[in-house]
Amino acid sequence: MRLFFILLEFYHSNILLPVFRHKAADRYVKIKVLLKLGFDMSHLCLVTDIKDGQAKAFPHPSATEDRDLIIVRRGLNVYGYVNRCPHAGTNLNWQEDEFMTDDENYLMCFTHGALFEPDTGKCVAGPCAGAGLSEVKLEVENGKVYYSG
Ligand code: FES
Repeated sequence: MRLFFILLEFYHSNILLPVFRHKAADRYVKIKVLLKLGFDMSHLCLVTDIKDGQAKAFPHPSATEDRDLIIVRRGLNVYGYVNRCPHAGTNLNWQEDEFMTDDENYLMCFTHGALFEPDTGKCVAGPCAGAGLSEVKLEVENGKVYYSG
């Protein structure tokens, strides 16, 4: 059992993320298995794992969500969204962890260029203006980011 906790910490260290990044189905099954075994999947990362002004994708800890969640960092604040554009449902990014505009003011959907406010997820420009990203509630405690629903 101790080995399993070590492996779980290894999983959370994001070292394995590139391995699974393009295998959403594998990730989905893996998370479901961990949840079934009763493991707490709520610890996502450290705030400092995300460069200030940038965003990063993480496996969504919900067993019912097969899309990544995006965590945006603004200073010590973090905001979470499901990686699904409200326009056509694609991932926002084409490249790994490429979510922000060059000036880091907006999340951008690289399919048709919709722009989203990092702190609200609201689309302010593009084909889905007025719509919003699906929010993921996060909590920060001692620099650690937790999924809270
Ligand atoms: S799918 Fe995102 S703007 Fe069209």
